[in-house]
Amino acid sequence: MAPFADDTVIDVEHQPVREFARAVLAGLAQAQKQIPSKFFYDAEGSRLFDKICELPEYYPTRTAISILRDNAAAIAEELPPGAVLVEYGSGASVKVRLLLDAMQRPAAYVPIDISREHLRAAAAELAGDYPRLSVLPVHADFTKPLMLRCRLPEGPRVGFFPGSTIGNFHPPEATRLLSGLAQNLGPGGLLLIGVDLKKDPRILHAAYNDAAGITAAFNRNLLQRANRELEGSFDVEAFDHHAFWNADASRIEMHLVSSTAQAASVAGHWFYFTAGESIHTENSYKYAPDEIHLVAKAAGFRPVCLWTDAQQLFGVSLLAVTG
Ligand code: AVI
Repeated sequence: MAPFADDTVIDVEHQPVREFARAVLAGLAQAQKQIPSKFFYDAEGSRLFDKICELPEYYPTRTAISILRDNAAAIAEELPPGAVLVEYGSGASVKVRLLLDAMQRPAAYVPIDISREHLRAAAAELAGDYPRLSVLPVHADFTKPLMLRCRLPEGPRVGFFPGSTIGNFHPPEATRLLSGLAQNLGPGGLLLIGVDLKKDPRILHAAYNDAAGITAAFNRNLLQRANRELEGSFDVEAFDHHAFWNADASRIEMHLVSSTAQAASVAGHWFYFTAGESIHTENSYKYAPDEIHLVAKAAGFRPVCLWTDAQQLFGVSLLAVTG
């Protein structure tokens, strides 16, 4: 069998289309229409997100990478030898290479991602570059308890969640998610997590309103995905990308704003939009270090160490499972 044939990927996620349909129909029936941001990441959305990560305005990815690169040796010193490294939402598996290069004899790498083809391709490439590492890709939605059924290989566990995705959850959901990860990692487990820090709103505004319009395309792809997968009839160009800093909630909000009065159908159900009405598609919460550590403590973690960049744009925190 060829390495990384399709069946090398362990499928925990089986009904993404049905789940997407349920979420869109329920979300568009609410007074403030909404679609959960986790549905951004079909193959096209994942491709666009990779482009966002390379934009000059989008500082989180390059800052996280520079923190990991500058502190790789210090981070690796805190990690046990022979660890099983589990990455939650592994995407293109770029940042993990910095960690793998610095760690002592990592035993296995378990990338978990919702986007199956993206996961398979990234895992295949990584396995080619690290021939002694056992690479076990899992196609799953790591935000679901179902994922916890997925058995991890034996060995000390280190979770890796570097992309600040924790910010895409409301704080109570972030606590629930982190407690799930604490259970998944088990006693003695460690979690290295990336957190986007509070900063000048002008930097945030630019990061979510890039000049090349990639974030706008990423946002609109949600409607294109509904058209593709759910027999949707959205006039995608009649929705404008709108991203702004909500200071009271300490988050960037992304919306798709209907530029005109219009109707669109999804799976045979009709929805009506007034001119200016929006679909809320994403929250991206920004934290102070103390705030994220409060969330981590409530979820069963003890903060061990925090690394940041010189401008304090981004933080990488090492947490230990308590109890
Ligand atoms: C994945 N997540 C951390 C990104 C963020 O910044 O909240 C998603 C994103 N949305 C727009 N640009 C990037």
